[in-house]
Amino acid sequence: MFVLGIESSCDETAAAIVNNGNLLSSVIASQIKDHSAYGGVVPEIASRKHIEAVSAVISQATEDAGIALSVVEGIAVTRGPGLIGSLLVGLSAAKALAYGLNIPLVGVNHLEGHIMASFLAEKKPGFPFAALVVSGGHTNVYLVKNYHEFKLLGQTRDDAAGEAFDKAAKLLNLGYPGGVVIDRMAKKGNHSAFEFPRAMKDSPDFSFSGLKTSLLTMVKKLGGHFTQAQLEDIAASYQEAIVDVLVDKTIKAALDHHVSQVVVCGGVAANSRLRERFVKAVAGKNLELFIPPTILCTDNAAMIAVLGEIMLKNGRSDSLDLNAVSRWP
Ligand code: KG4
Ligand code: ZN
Repeated sequence: MFVLGIESSCDETAAAIVNNGNLLSSVIASQIKDHSAYGGVVPEIASRKHIEAVSAVISQATEDAGIALSVVEGIAVTRGPGLIGSLLVGLSAAKALAYGLNIPLVGVNHLEGHIMASFLAEKKPGFPFAALVVSGGHTNVYLVKNYHEFKLLGQTRDDAAGEAFDKAAKLLNLGYPGGVVIDRMAKKGNHSAFEFPRAMKDSPDFSFSGLKTSLLTMVKKLGGHFTQAQLEDIAASYQEAIVDVLVDKTIKAALDHHVSQVVVCGGVAANSRLRERFVKAVAGKNLELFIPPTILCTDNAAMIAVLGEIMLKNGRSDSLDLNAVSRWP
C-alpha cells in the first residue's frame, strides 16, 4: 500500500512515502534558521513556515519516490501531541488530499511514530519490547505490547531530556538546538571534569530540572566566563549526567519487565554518547538494542507513514472532521 505520511508537530515540515513498510522517500524542511535567533521554537512563526513549506514538501516526497500523487492509497498524518497551530497545517493538508483523492486518512500519535521508526530498519524489533522515547517534549519509557498498546513505565516529572540539553545550551550561549551543539562539544571534553546530579535514582521516573539548576549555580559561581576547553568539559559532564539516567532506567525497566528488546528513539536518540552508552549497556546482557539512524530519530514523516500504513491495513481510519490535539496522553 502506498502511504503518504505528513508531520508538522513542531518545527519540521516533513512528508514521506512508504510502501509495504519500505521507505521510498523522506523529505524534511527544517525551520531551525527561523527560530535560532530566539533560542527556541516560536509557535506563531512555526505555523506560518509550515504553511509556506507543506505543499512543496509533499510534492518533493512523491517526486523522490518516483510516483504520481494519484498512486497514493492512504494518508497518515500527525494528529498530536505538539504545537496546535503547527499540527493544524499538516492535518488540513492531509484532509484536503484525502478528500480530493478519495482515499482514507489516519491520524497518528507522534510518540507512537517515534517508536515505530524502528520498524523502518531491516532488522525490526519484536513485541513486546521496552521503548525509551526521548525528545524535546518527552522522556517516557514504555512497555510496547503491540502496535497500539503502550504501557507507560516511567516519565519525567519536570523537564524532558531534550529540554535539559536545549536550556543548558541557551544558558551557556552555545546556540540552538542545544542537543546537537552539546553533543559536538562534548566529544572534545572530559565527562568527569564537573559533577552534576543524577536525580531519582530509585524511581522509574526521571527529573532533569535539578540538573539545570545545578548548571546555573555552577555558571554563577565560576563567573560566567569560560575558555573553550572548560565549555567542552561542562558539555561532556552535563551530557553524561543525562545519558547515565536515561541508560540506567531504561535497561532496568526492560529487565524488570522481562523483555529482551530495547528501542531508543526520539530526537535525543540522535546523541552520539547516548547511542554509544546503550550499545555498551546491553553487551553481555540478554538484551537486543534497536536505535533508528539519526535522521529517523529527529522529527520526520517516515515514522508517521510506516505506522499509518500498519493502522490503515488493520482497518483503522479517521473521518474528515478529525481534530488536532496538543496533548495526547
Ligand atoms: O524528536 P524531536 O526532533 O522533536 C520533538 O518531538 O521534540 O526532538 C528534538 C530534541 C531537541 O531538544 C534537540 O535538542 C534534541 O532532540 N536533539 C539532541 C540531538 N539532536 C537533537 N539531543 C542530544 N544530542 C543530539 N545529537
Ligand atoms: Zn518528535
